Amino acid sequence: MNVLGIETSCDETAIAVVQDGRRILSNVIASQVELHARYGGVVPELASRQHLEAMVPVLEEALERARCRLADIDAVAVTIGPGLAGALLVGANFAKALAYALSLPLIAVNHLEAHIYAAWLDSEREPPFPALCLTVSGGHSDVVLMESHGRYRRLGQTVDDAAGEAFDKVARLLGLGFPGGPAIQRLAATAGPTPLRLPRPRLDRPYDFSFSGLKTKVLRLVRGEEGEGPPAPELAAAFQEAVVDSLVSRAVRAAQQHGVRQIILSGGVAANSALRQALARRSPVPLLVPPPALCTDNGAMVAACGWQRLQSGDIAPLDVDVQPGLHIG
Ligand code: KG4
Ligand code: ZN
Repeated sequence: MNVLGIETSCDETAIAVVQDGRRILSNVIASQVELHARYGGVVPELASRQHLEAMVPVLEEALERARCRLADIDAVAVTIGPGLAGALLVGANFAKALAYALSLPLIAVNHLEAHIYAAWLDSEREPPFPALCLTVSGGHSDVVLMESHGRYRRLGQTVDDAAGEAFDKVARLLGLGFPGGPAIQRLAATAGPTPLRLPRPRLDRPYDFSFSGLKTKVLRLVRGEEGEGPPAPELAAAFQEAVVDSLVSRAVRAAQQHGVRQIILSGGVAANSALRQALARRSPVPLLVPPPALCTDNGAMVAACGWQRLQSGDIAPLDVDVQPGLHIG
């Protein structure tokens, strides 16, 4: 069964064809990074307009690369939230029109759940449940217990910035480009062995995160408010280490407390090599993490998740609405 996966929740127009929820036949991503880079972040109105322009060419390319026609598609899956309302609407309306015109089932997909299902792509494995999901992106940072397909319990979340948002903001403070995550990772790799240790916040709830204090600390150091600040590479490395330590310590503790059989790391920040390595080293159970290219937004993860939803008969009505504030668990 071929599922078309459509993703437009933020600044990537992405469409993929995935067979049986796992095998990627095509995965086309039209990134708007250059469009937004000059503003230092995503401009919602520009994103929606750009999605509109890109939809048809991206669909055509996705079909061509998959060597199939619309007649070979069996279902249409689309991200309905969370994300930017206008951007989500473009993808959702496009998906509805396709599903209606071709008489295909429409599947409404939660973007955060789709990030998790990237772990099923191009793999024969069936990750055992319960699994602990650490889902870290530009808009969300969640520790989620996945009891089985479609059953989630959120154990913790960020109380302020998402991890990716913190990377993006600190990159801006350091005068690096957008998106900030890859830029900080590259700069941190050039740091010498650093004695610099940034503070880790204490929170009441054991699996929650906070990154805004860390961001303020970096700001003070950059402005020289605490004497001569450290060089940028050392600062980038210390910031990255503090974020990674926060994320990994919560995930590991939650995995131990809930007796999970697997940790699944997903979302754009899961592309970070320091995070991948630290979690692989400290996880008490096997770690499953998609390759970096499938961690950031793409259509294949939406198709993978949509296929699984379809197995449970979860078909959306054609008047399904977008849900910009959707969460998981
Ligand atoms: O999942 P995603 O592509 O979009 C959202 O759903 O938000 O995540 C984008 C976020 C951005 O904040 C970006 O800076 C971050 O993921 N990111 C990274 C890396 N690659 C992307 N953060 C740290 N290290 C990376 N290598
Ligand atoms: Zn995402």
